[in-house]
Amino acid sequence: MTDSPIDSTIAHTARVWNYWLGGKDNYPVDREIGDRIKELAPQVVDVALGDRVFLRRAVTHLVQEEGIRQFLDIGTGLPTADNTHEVAQALAPHARVVYVDNDPLVLTHARALLTGTETGRTQFVGADLRDTAKVLEAAARTLDLDRPIALTLMGTMGHFEFDEALKIVDAYTDALAPGSFLAVCDGVMAHMDAELGERAMQGMRLWQEKVAQPYHMRTVEEFGRFFDGLEPVEPGPVSVLRWRPEPTEVGTVRDLPQYAGLAKKTSTRPGPEDPATP
Ligand SMILES: C[S@@+](CC[C@H](N)C(=O)[O-])C[C@H]1O[C@@H](n2cnc3c(N)ncnc32)[C@H](O)[C@@H]1O
Repeated sequence: MTDSPIDSTIAHTARVWNYWLGGKDNYPVDREIGDRIKELAPQVVDVALGDRVFLRRAVTHLVQEEGIRQFLDIGTGLPTADNTHEVAQALAPHARVVYVDNDPLVLTHARALLTGTETGRTQFVGADLRDTAKVLEAAARTLDLDRPIALTLMGTMGHFEFDEALKIVDAYTDALAPGSFLAVCDGVMAHMDAELGERAMQGMRLWQEKVAQPYHMRTVEEFGRFFDGLEPVEPGPVSVLRWRPEPTEVGTVRDLPQYAGLAKKTSTRPGPEDPATP
């Protein structure tokens, strides 16, 4: 009998993801489901790696080209290479980063590993991201929410049905100061032939059965709706590896069923009972 909040009898999304990324913070139950899905849909490992590549590219762009110094990374996952604060604070040592996740293992590792630089600040918030008011209140202890921030939601909104995901993203985006950015990366039903698509669906069914947090692939059109009312940053939402590939990249960029996008909030968006002026 143990009081540990960590349940190693059922797979958890943060730990399966960590396994696909080559990490060690996972249990047999996570590896077993990770392997079974990988057998059905081998591209899933590149999807996980591609998601991290986008995080690094987007944070680098935001610091270097957009002057952003505050980051709110929701659905952090287990620490791996190139975590948000490492990328941001290597380029801008005073950058501030707040991480949010509700997985108990993430919480344990984050406290130990996600420490900031001497000058930059890093905070970890253990909370359910659906409680937007609580998350924003906690984030405001480290970030000045009256000034622009970058909100990153990587591989995380797929854990919610589309309508709920859209409401969550809108609630956060509405609370951000003009000049802020939204970065999202998630799975889409695209760039798969019929056979791969069928295998991906089998993988998804297995995930829903065996993993504590469900996951939903989007259509490309649904993915684009997260950015409604915002100004897209070039190249707009694209298959993840196509988002500003490094000039040193060689060979052909491969399309994966994972989309990435970055957009800027240029003004306050009209609310539902506040119709846009004609
Ligand atoms: C697939 S992982 C992605 C991790 C990381 N962002 C990345 O791209 O490598 C999804 C993360 O979202 C977190 N998550 C899922 N549902 C959540 C919720 N309701 N509240 C807070 N975090 C949640 C999980 O614990 C997990 O760490």
